[in-house]
Amino acid sequence: MKKISKLYKIELEFLKDAINNGKNDYHTFVFSTLNDNFPKSRIVVLRNLLVDPLKIYFNADFRSPKVAELKQNSSCTALFYDKKRKVQIRFKCKSTVHYQNDYAKQAWLKTRLQSRKCYMGPFAPSKKLDEWHPNIPLEYSKSDPEKLHSEVGYINFTHIELKVVESDILQLYHNGHIRFRVDNKQNLCYLSP
Ligand SMILES: Cc1cc2nc3c(=O)[nH]c(=O)nc-3n(C[C@H](O)[C@H](O)[C@H](O)COP(=O)(O)O)c2cc1C
Repeated sequence: MKKISKLYKIELEFLKDAINNGKNDYHTFVFSTLNDNFPKSRIVVLRNLLVDPLKIYFNADFRSPKVAELKQNSSCTALFYDKKRKVQIRFKCKSTVHYQNDYAKQAWLKTRLQSRKCYMGPFAPSKKLDEWHPNIPLEYSKSDPEKLHSEVGYINFTHIELKVVESDILQLYHNGHIRFRVDNKQNLCYLSP
């Protein structure tokens, strides 16, 4: 158990590094919600991580279907894969949608102007369009918005918190794969790979 406890800590360090390091494969992850009875997955960017209890965070447009899905059912999963090290992490999570509160405000303050224009688009993400539109204000197609104008995007901004209730970590090794689970009381056990 000492061994997997050490491996778990190492993965948490890689995840922490990935928040600001776009070259770390954990910088993006596959986030899945339930849409009626169908799982629905998409890529999102890891924006923060807290430990004890383990929580991970990403940003989204409040108008997007994923937010409506989380309001219906807060159960979701986050899937990370580090291609070079051949490590897969599957987190079973419960979500909280932070909108127009202190958590959302703090996260908004950290966003770049370049990202803010994505929240200034006229359409809800995933909406059917009659013709092509990048869903950013067209005046900013080649530039960033002014800071003052960018604040209008906050109305569409949400910071999503995922409380991890179970982790499943798989590491592929040529001489024998290692897989283990961490439950919500931080108990670790080996799993068959
Ligand atoms: C590399 C990459 C990063 C992305 N990051 C985010 C993100 O951080 N937040 C987000 O809401 N959508 C992000 N998206 C877009 C989503 O994958 C998705 O297409 C969009 O949010 C609409 O999702 P929905 O209709 O399932 O709500 C990203 C897409 C790619 C390809």
